[in-house]
Amino acid sequence: MKVLIVQYLPGGESSNTKKLLDAALAVLKSGKADIETLDLVKDLPDFFTPERIGVYYERNYGGQQVSVQKMGYMAKMDRMAAQLKAADMLILAAPMYNFSQPAAVKAWFDSVMQKGVTWDLNPGVGYVGLLKGKKALFLSTSGGQYEAGHPYEHCISLTKVHLGFMGFETETVTAGGINQFPDKAAGAIAQAQAKIRDVLGKWIN
Ligand SMILES: Cc1cc2nc3c(=O)[nH]c(=O)nc-3n(C[C@H](O)[C@H](O)[C@H](O)COP(=O)(O)O)c2cc1C
Repeated sequence: MKVLIVQYLPGGESSNTKKLLDAALAVLKSGKADIETLDLVKDLPDFFTPERIGVYYERNYGGQQVSVQKMGYMAKMDRMAAQLKAADMLILAAPMYNFSQPAAVKAWFDSVMQKGVTWDLNPGVGYVGLLKGKKALFLSTSGGQYEAGHPYEHCISLTKVHLGFMGFETETVTAGGINQFPDKAAGAIAQAQAKIRDVLGKWIN
């Protein structure tokens, strides 16, 4: 099984979210998973520029052949999309920033959520995710505690929409209240790590 780890953990060794990812890696390394890592701190995704959006419309929406030069504008986005398509399972690890995904994670989704590659629009059917049959696990931590549906919570909810739109069966494991309730932070992380072992234990066996 090919597992792609996509991580954005600028906090490095002291990252809270890394503690969740480490728990996931321990499970994966005990099995036979073929692990590939995309570290978005070292390999920042591209943003849409006028050149890139032009190629995206011409090629992905218009179905046109584009020049080698134009294909080059999309090279990094295409590389990230192909890497995701080639994986059987995704583990995405990133903290909440300003109530949502960190910008680098959103840019990664903008890179990989390409029409005709990871989702499509089929006449009479509507939107279809092209990555059906794959599983995704989103690992995150936040300073505050947010119950499902909280008006400020756009990190877990948005990530679920992004992954679900591409067809992934998605699980999220999060530890909230890290800064709001410091005395409970270690317990919240330990609880999340236990849930990760449970979810991944089932997925890889
Ligand atoms: C730039 C920045 C923005 C943040 N925004 C939020 C936020 O909107 N809501 C929240 O609950 N916590 C927020 N936090 C707190 C982090 O989500 C929290 O400390 C998290 O555990 C950090 O994860 P890390 O240690 O893996 O980097 C923010 C932290 C930073 C550095």
